[in-house]
This record gives sequence, structure tokens and C-alpha cells, in this order.
Amino acid sequence: MKRKGIILAGGEGTRLFPSSASTSKHLLPIYDKPMIYYSLSTLMLADIQEILIICNSMDLPIYKKLFTKTTNLGIKFLFAEQPKPIGIANALIIAENFISDNPCCLILGDNFFYGHNLSQTLKRISKSKNNSIIGYPVKNPSNFGVVEFDEKQKIIELVEKPVKPASRYAITGLYFFDNTVAQRAKLISESKRKEYEIVDVLKSYHKDKKLNLELMGRGDAWLDAGCHESLVDASLFVRSVEKRQGLKIGCPEEIAWRKKWISNEELLKISKKYSKSSYSSYLNSLPNNKIVGTI
Ligand code: TTP
Repeated sequence: MKRKGIILAGGEGTRLFPSSASTSKHLLPIYDKPMIYYSLSTLMLADIQEILIICNSMDLPIYKKLFTKTTNLGIKFLFAEQPKPIGIANALIIAENFISDNPCCLILGDNFFYGHNLSQTLKRISKSKNNSIIGYPVKNPSNFGVVEFDEKQKIIELVEKPVKPASRYAITGLYFFDNTVAQRAKLISESKRKEYEIVDVLKSYHKDKKLNLELMGRGDAWLDAGCHESLVDASLFVRSVEKRQGLKIGCPEEIAWRKKWISNEELLKISKKYSKSSYSSYLNSLPNNKIVGTI
């Protein structure tokens, strides 16, 4: 069974108001491309080619236009509406038919991952049968869902926004699940803040001893671009690396092309559509731009 991908692009984005008051925050730019390109790229690096985008009804036509009418990336896109932003676990129920009997990978559309071996790590986790979460060390764990684990990296406890965190590892917004996830999401109850929390789905797997922890290290970057500060941080990070290397981060067209999901001709066709932008010149240059390594 092939692993399917789900991008969550709903929510209210209140922390980014007024910038996100009349548009989905996932369409705001992280430096030179829409925020959602980065989560899409992460799924593509995990070799996922069938992707469901979940968003609110107002944004649905925009995402359809962005990903079906204008670009062929060798990916099958599907779309679903989340009528109310009542939690990440609720979106998993919406994805039930899409997931069907397949394993899946859920990514929050405002999450950004970058790192030297990221591509290999994602492929390895994606291929494995484990239900995996990814922990990342942060300075302020109290602001996140936190995972406590022992010296063998076995999970001890999962706690949402703990006052006294037992570890400094936040649970990132990238989750690898088996086909029981929607069933599990249906069994959880509303939290105090009136949302269906992803951490309760994780607890259900953990209770059954079916949750695996992967850790990202100091050389990796995980940012969530959900507030003004982190959006600027993410933009500056991308700008610095891209400027230095002349290689783009989170460029879905490049990933599709390097994975041979689209041909040179298809790449150049997309590049034409982007007209006079530097993004277009970049895509144009790819066939003559040799770099070492695979993705
Ligand atoms: P959050 O950042 O927790 O919520 P939000 O996007 O509504 O933002 P804010 O807190 O500023 O109001 O959401 C994390 C990600 O999950 C984000 O990419 C949006 C997505 N999301 C949904 O798609 N549906 C939901 O019901 C929720 C709560 C979030």
C-alpha cells in the first residue's frame, strides 16, 4: 500500500491577523514562495505522490487553481473542506475515505523542515511500517506538545503545552500513521479549549505501544511560520541559504523534476508560466545546473 499525504491548510490563522484575515495564511510567502510549498515539498521528499489538501470552504477554489489548473507536478491532488477549525484530529476524520486502507502522513501547512539528511530520513520513515512522530529540541518547550522519552528513545509521555516540561523536545507537525488513524481520531473527546487535539490521537497509539519517536538534531531546522516573528525568521533563513547556494529550498517543481516525476519539457512549461520572475529563471536553469547527490 502506498503512503498518502495530507496537508492541513485550514485553521483561522488569528496570530497572523490582519495579514491572514482575508486569505489563508498558508498562501502568505515564506521569502519567495507560498508557505504551503514547503509542507508540500516535505511530503514530496518522503516520496508521496497522492495528496489531500484540507482547507476551509473560502480557500478551496484557490488551492484547486494553484495545484491542479496551473501545475503538473506528477502528483495527484485532492481537496476537502473542513467546515470549522475544530482541531487537527478532526481533519483526520475528514480524510478517512482518502486514507482508506493506506498508511498516511499528515503535515501541518505552516511547518517548515530543512536539514542535510532530511530527504533520506523522510524516505526511511515513510517506507517503514512504524507510526512515527518527530521530536525537535526547542528553547521554549512549554509552547508546544512535548515528548518525554528514555535513553533508548522510547516514549514515556506526551504532554500538550506542559507548565514544567519533562524534556525540551517539541512534537513537530509531521506525523506518520497507519490506516487506523481516522478510527482513533473518532474516539477522542473535545479538549478544554474545545478542539480535537492531535496529541490525543498520539496518546491512543502510545497506549497500544504503537508509537515510534524519531529525533531531529542540531543541524536540522524546524520552524512553524504561524506568527509574525517566525514567519520573518523562516523567510530570512530561506533567503540566506538560497542566496549563498543559488539553490532553492521548498521548490516543488525542482523536486518533481529531480525525482523524474516530470520531464525537462514539463519543467520548462511550468517555468514559462511564471513569466519574468526569478523563480522562472531558476526552473529554466535546472537542466544545466549540475549538483551532486540525490533526493
Ligand atoms: P494552529 O496554528 O494551531 O491554528 P491556526 O492556523 O488557526 O492559527 P492561530 O493559532 O494563529 O489562530 O494550526 C496549526 C496548523 O493546522 C495550521 O497550518 C492550520 C492547521 N489547522 C487546520 O487545518 N484545522 C484546524 O482545525 C486547526 C486547529 C489547525
